[in-house]
Amino acid sequence: MKRTKKPWDGRFLEETDREVEAFTSSLSFDRRLYRQDVEGSIAHAKMLARQGIISPGEGKAIVAGLGGIRKDIEGGLVEFLPQDEDIHMAIERLLIDRIGEAGGKLHTGRSRNDQVTLDLRLYLREEIGSARKLLNNFRSLLLNLAEQERETIMPGYTHLQKAQPILLAHHLLAYHEMLQRDDERLKECHDRLNVLPLGAAALAGTGLPLDRGYTAKLLGFPRVSQNSLDAVSDRDYVAEFIFASAVIMMHLSRLSEDLIIWSSDEFRFVEIGDAFTTGSSIMPQKKNPDVAELIRGKTARIYGHLVTILTLLKGLPMSYNRDLQEDKEPLFDTIDTLKGSLAVLSGMFANLRFNRERMAEEASKGFSTATDLAEYLVVKGMPFRQAHAVVGRLVRYCLERKKTFTDLTIEEFRIFDNRFEADVREYVSVAGSISRKRVVGGTSYDSVHSRLKELADKSSKG
Ligand code: ARG
Repeated sequence: MKRTKKPWDGRFLEETDREVEAFTSSLSFDRRLYRQDVEGSIAHAKMLARQGIISPGEGKAIVAGLGGIRKDIEGGLVEFLPQDEDIHMAIERLLIDRIGEAGGKLHTGRSRNDQVTLDLRLYLREEIGSARKLLNNFRSLLLNLAEQERETIMPGYTHLQKAQPILLAHHLLAYHEMLQRDDERLKECHDRLNVLPLGAAALAGTGLPLDRGYTAKLLGFPRVSQNSLDAVSDRDYVAEFIFASAVIMMHLSRLSEDLIIWSSDEFRFVEIGDAFTTGSSIMPQKKNPDVAELIRGKTARIYGHLVTILTLLKGLPMSYNRDLQEDKEPLFDTIDTLKGSLAVLSGMFANLRFNRERMAEEASKGFSTATDLAEYLVVKGMPFRQAHAVVGRLVRYCLERKKTFTDLTIEEFRIFDNRFEADVREYVSVAGSISRKRVVGGTSYDSVHSRLKELADKSSKG
């Protein structure tokens, strides 16, 4: 006696080994596709009925049966069985249990191979929509914060050494630019995957007269796939989505790293709200930026998923291979991690307090206007290389006397070059330095404010 019936067990004499059953099952994770599976099957059944491949009555019974199954899954009333193998077979079994013979007609002109990639496309289409919402919500938070800190001066760094003074708004808007490209990448990924694979069947298409255009219309796909082998065998869209997510996480990770440094006792540029930090189990005084650290840490997971999916695909012979079932867990974890990170980072950013005095104070240290001084000499006609050397000597002079540029008298400046005049003061001041960075994309008040206005106009237009 066979333990259970499988839809494919006609050619088998022995039943599946229990360990094999457990090993091959994907139900524990692909059950999250139940809604898309039902949606795809409903469209397929409607098309079959419209084409006269099944009767109108059978079509109606299937559609009603699937609707009931969806409701019962949502109500927690459905019991999945170990032998169900995956969500597609589980739903089909339930349908046949409930409506009998007509249920056995749903899988006409279809294979799990085209069904599973359909489900995944439907699912990812939605998830990209909600990830983009979270991403763009975070972008508008960044924009508001930049607006609020539009006059705040901070040190700009290279090599984590003070380099030149910048506006905090400019720093925040740098991330806004990055995340804008990230949003474009997500949108493009969505548009490329938005293709109906159904009709490819197992690999070769089907001899039955399907109307693929009609199914596509029902499911909101603007295009149908043009090669059945390609349709069932590729998961480039999964790889592309994970790559786009990896880049977003990389950006969030760098931003988190900035916050970790800025909130350290050595910097004290920013205070993260209590609700978005954690304490230490032993050191009573501690307030740690664990959220930012975890975003940095979780980025590593997504990189791992990217390597997983690329490696999964590289050696597969045409067309469908069961290896492809391994696409789901990395994809699902990427979605969960990305959305979770964006949500918690948004909360944290709504709870930041910048220490403006401290940032401005640090911005004036470390000869941060040395490049401005060289530019001063360039304006007075000196070749830049020579100006660089003159200012270098000036820096050394100051270091030896424990002075800054602003402590020097004009006479002292003139020891180094007689082109120095009273107007040099303006060049060594931090505010003066920032004001002059008027080049497009620079950190001047004018450039940053006009970019802020441009972005605010764009976001209010949607
Ligand atoms: N659970 C399978 C997957 O995720 C569905 C397709 C199974 N197809 C097959 N020929 N065994 O890929």
